This record gives sequence, structure tokens and C-alpha cells, in this order.
Amino acid sequence: MNFELTISPINEIDAEIELILIINKDFKHNFVKNRKLLKKANFKAEQDEKYLLIEKDRLYVGVEELNDTNLRTAMAKAIQALNSTKYKSLKVACYFEDKDSTHNLRAMVEGLLLGEYSFDKYKTEKSKRKIEDVIISLEEYHAFELDMETCAKAIELAQITADATNFTRDIVNTTPDDCYPDTLAQIAQGLADELGLECNILKPKKLRKEKMEALLAVARASRHKPRVIHLAHKPKNPKAVISLIGKGLTYDSGGLSLKPSTSMVSMKLDKSGGSAVLGIMKAVAQMNLPVEVHGFIGAVENMIGGDAYKPDDVLTAKNGKTIEVRNTDAEGRLVLADVLAYAQQEVEADYMFDLATLTGASVVAVGQYTSSIMGNCDTPKDMVIEASKDSGELATKLDFNKHLRTCLKSNIADISNISNTPYGGAITAGIFLDNFIDKANKDKWVHIDIAGPAYVEHTWGENPIGGSGAGVRMITRLLEKLSK
Ligand code: BES
Ligand code: ZN
Ligand code: ZN
Repeated sequence: MNFELTISPINEIDAEIELILIINKDFKHNFVKNRKLLKKANFKAEQDEKYLLIEKDRLYVGVEELNDTNLRTAMAKAIQALNSTKYKSLKVACYFEDKDSTHNLRAMVEGLLLGEYSFDKYKTEKSKRKIEDVIISLEEYHAFELDMETCAKAIELAQITADATNFTRDIVNTTPDDCYPDTLAQIAQGLADELGLECNILKPKKLRKEKMEALLAVARASRHKPRVIHLAHKPKNPKAVISLIGKGLTYDSGGLSLKPSTSMVSMKLDKSGGSAVLGIMKAVAQMNLPVEVHGFIGAVENMIGGDAYKPDDVLTAKNGKTIEVRNTDAEGRLVLADVLAYAQQEVEADYMFDLATLTGASVVAVGQYTSSIMGNCDTPKDMVIEASKDSGELATKLDFNKHLRTCLKSNIADISNISNTPYGGAITAGIFLDNFIDKANKDKWVHIDIAGPAYVEHTWGENPIGGSGAGVRMITRLLEKLSK
């Protein structure tokens, strides 16, 4: 999709269809032209409600209150309504909330690109051609003295963010036999070659040398060998150093604590954290942000077999702690234990963020659309919450407490990989990870459980069925902020 920005009035722009947003049900606004027809069609201009007036080549969409979130979803609904229509070019006026900002423009462009996404890799018939050219008029906003350069920058940032999100969605949606640990490594290497990132891929021999026995145990029964991926974006004089750690379970069968068949369906999603790290690294490199960012991914497949790791095994993690395995389906925390330890050994970061589809309990606690934010210190957690709001993602904090800490006690090892209570499972998983964070880094680390929003089997807002790219927009925004 190509974007063109102009100060020409919308009426003077040549395009096949015009998109008109009706804000606050304000049918009197001078952009609204077909008032009688809209009334006859009983169009109320409620949020995301749309009405395609083919005979006039106009599409109306409602926006109940002018803000980024509403603009983003309205634009996504608009572009979806135009898919598989004859239209190839679209014109739309930009709507600004305040004078000194172009965030609304960014949200509109993100909405178009995120809403346009579809995954048809496995369909014999590919989706029809879509809108190719979008012309955005700044007609209404001459009073704000917006300069074209700032507006163009907002569009560029929107394109990079949405492309990275769609890139992550593609990886998550790819099937486990087409996307296994080495595939993630190859994707990382591809990004490094294309964008000038550093890339180090650790194979089993090196993983053994690094004493990542917990990760290796999870990987053991799979014919696909594990990888740990380390990508790095290293500008000169960085404003901060950040490590990102992603859970990259290319398939989670549950292992010997086998998942019931209905819960196993969709477990290709379990690489969403690692896939988000890949997307974020792509965005960071393309934006050339003045922050040093390291992306670590534990890429593993959790399977069954004669050499599978077992409930009752005791594993020694990279940091020397012993873990009693009581459930092989709580594998993500075992993989992350080692990758978190490795990341801390390799990089002295100012902040560490891990992204993982870690627990079904997170989905139960906060719902399908929201990520759970955990850690020991409010400052970095609040940074994530703030960034989520700007980005259009949903996130909320879940607090650790000393009572839940005791639930991970083991009789024979330092810690058990599952809690002894069925309650608070998202938090006890977060507390488990905290056991692999060095003392000096306790307040620098945030755990983000994306199990809910990473993969949803219906469309929601600007997100499609399947992989949503959860984490990419939120963390990219956070890194942009740290760059200022
Ligand atoms: N990958 C799953 C968590 C998950 C569940 C993600 C549903 C997305 C949707 C994780 O490895 C897992 O199986 N966790 C167990 C932990 C339990 C055994 C303590 C869970 O959530 O049931
Ligand atoms: Zn599992
Ligand atoms: Zn898992």
C-alpha cells in the first residue's frame, strides 16, 4: 500500500473511492455529503459501523470519540470493507485531536495496514487485489501549521510498526512443520543480513557448553533440534541498553503431561513471544533507533517420545538452580530460565523484557485481549503499560506477593516447575522466572505474558483471526520512547 500526503482539499483529489469518518455522530460536518441516504439506510455512525455507498463511491465509517484507538480500529474496518471490491485507490482526510501532534495520522495508517492483513499461505486461491494507493489530505489542519516532514515521519513510523507486526503474524501463523527452531534461526539470520544486525545462533553443542540443561531437556524428544538466537542492534553512543527475551516454542504438545486434544489445537502459537522479538528487532533496525537492543529467543519444540523429559526429573538450569519437573507442559518457564540466565551473562542491560505465551491462567485472569505485566519494580512495568496505551495494545499489571512465592517449593530440588495451588497461575509462573533473575537485575526486568492476545480465533479491533503480533507495537513504542 502506497501513501501520499497532500494539503489539497479532499474534493480536488483524484481517487476511486472516498473514505469519510463520522466523528461523534456529527452528521453536520462539512465532510458528510449524503445525509439523506445515510438516514434512510439507518446508519448511526456508531464506532466501527460502516456503510459503503457504491453508487457514490463513498465509504462512511463511524468513530465515536476522536482518539488513536478508535481511529485505528475504524480504519481497519474500512479497509476490510474494501477488500475484494473493485477499488484500487482511496482518499481520506486526516482527523487531528490536537495541534502539536501527528499521533492520529500514525494511528490511521497503522489501522489501514494492520486491518488489511490476511494469511493465505496455505490457500490455493490467494486473496484478491486490494487498495494500492491511499491519498491523505491535511485540508482541515492548515490552522495547526503541521509541517509535511513531521507528518511524513508519522506515516513512516506507522508503516514500519505495522509491517513488523504483520511479519510477526506471518511467523506465528505458519504451521509447526514449516516453522521449527531452525526456521526461526534462519528468519533471524535473514533479518541480520538484510538490516545489518549482529546474529549469533547457538546449536545443541554450544547449548550444552553453556549448561542450558533445562532448555535441552524440553527439546530432547523432538526431531527438530533447539536453537538459541541472539540478535543485536548496536548503534554508536546508545541512550540505553535493552534485552528482549522471547519464548519460541514452535510447538507445545505438552510433552508427557500431554495436552488434551482440544487444548493442543493452535499450539503453534507458542512461538509468539520469540516471533514478537523478531518483529521488534526488525522495527528497531528499520527505525535505526539510538538504543542498543538485544533479542534472545529460546527456540524449542516440546514433544513426546522414548527420550522425552519426564515429570519427576530434576534439571539443573544454567544459573545452577535445580528444578523439579512436576509437569512437562510448564515447559516455557524452563526454556526461559536458561535463556534469561544466558541473556544476563551476555549483556549488562538497563532493562530486560521477556515476552511469552506462558500460561492459560493469564487468559483466565485478564481475558483474551490483554497481556499480563509482572515484575519486581513498578517503574519499568509502568513504562510497558504506558507504551501499550500509545500503541493500541492492552496490558495490565498482576502483582507478585510473598504468599504465592511459597507455592513453588519443592521437596527434592530448589524449586518446582509448577505451583502447589491451582490459583494465580500467571503470577506463580512469573515468580518462577524471577528465580532466574540475578539480584542486580531484579528491578530491571519485566515479564509480559501474551498468552491471551497473541492468538485469537476471531477478528478483534484491528487484529485478524490467528496471530496478532502481540507485543510488537507495545515494545516498539517503548523503545522509541527510550530513544528520545
Ligand atoms: N503454552 C502454554 C500456555 C498457553 C495456554 C498459551 C493457552 C496460550 C494459550 C504453556 O506452556 C502451558 O501449557 N502452561 C500450562 C502451565 C501449567 C501446566 C502449570 C497451563 O497454562 O496450563
Ligand atoms: Zn506447555
Ligand atoms: Zn508453552
